[in-house]
Amino acid sequence: MAGGSKRMFGLLGKKRRRVKTNTMLRFLHEVLELEHLHYGLWEDEERNIAGLARAQQRYADELVSWIPEGVHSIVDVGAGVGTTSRLLTERGYSVEGLSPDPYQRDVFTRRTGLPFHLTRFQEFRPERPYDLILMSESAQYIWLDSYFPCVQRVAPGGHLLLADYFIVDGDCAGKGPAAKSGHRLEEFDRKAGDSGFELIRETDITEATLPTLELASKWIKNYVEPSLSILGDSLDGRYPRVARLVSKKVGAEFEKNREIVDPELFRKLKRYLIRLYRVPKH
Ligand SMILES: C[S@@+](CC[C@H](N)C(=O)[O-])C[C@H]1O[C@@H](n2cnc3c(N)ncnc32)[C@H](O)[C@@H]1O
Repeated sequence: MAGGSKRMFGLLGKKRRRVKTNTMLRFLHEVLELEHLHYGLWEDEERNIAGLARAQQRYADELVSWIPEGVHSIVDVGAGVGTTSRLLTERGYSVEGLSPDPYQRDVFTRRTGLPFHLTRFQEFRPERPYDLILMSESAQYIWLDSYFPCVQRVAPGGHLLLADYFIVDGDCAGKGPAAKSGHRLEEFDRKAGDSGFELIRETDITEATLPTLELASKWIKNYVEPSLSILGDSLDGRYPRVARLVSKKVGAEFEKNREIVDPELFRKLKRYLIRLYRVPKH
């Protein structure tokens, strides 16, 4: 292949990887029928899937109640399947969704009929500024180096409302998957300050998110791991190579998630925060 074509295919390959379906999030919506893809805000609900759905609705209602007066246009960055965007339109806001996930784009568009941008936030070049950027558990996916400049490009002089977990115990975090999931709070704060972002309001909801992790850990232990083991055994006799591949690939994915959703580790390493910032104009 000529150098030029190689380069072009390389670029196309890279571009293609920028938008892709997240299988785990698709599983949560399609199989568990969850309408939100975040940890929720628990009170005394029963610790089951119906309780989780109620906790997630409370979380969305809480976020909407944080929106300051005067806000009209909102871009829901990492909009998932559109449930919060739909709620925002019902409250009278003008909303657009954004996510790099084609599956979410299809579901979002079907459910809300609202404009949608299929892109990573890093590459988003808006045609007009927005009053507020909502990031409901999506800030963690966006590289910290470009995070604040991108927010400023999209909502200069407006607001950033985010809800997400952050790593607070850098020393204990080590090098495991839990240590890679979430931004380090100290670094995030430093970059926010350097970029002139003003923190107007904050609350810590860590304890109210933990039941989701307890549920997820229980599901992985009680259903996912035994299912994988049965599948592995049934393949092993006839297709040992497939069995090894499944156990290596799928097993590793769930092993990673098992650590990320370990409630005790989460409580030790992380803080789940809701924050409202004023975005500088220049
Ligand atoms: C945990 S889900 C939260 C979904 C939704 N906000 C909710 O509350 O249900 C994370 C979202 O961030 C999106 N996301 C991942 N990487 C992103 C990026 N680089 N830029 C924008 N969104 C991203 C995912 O596609 C997904 O929509």
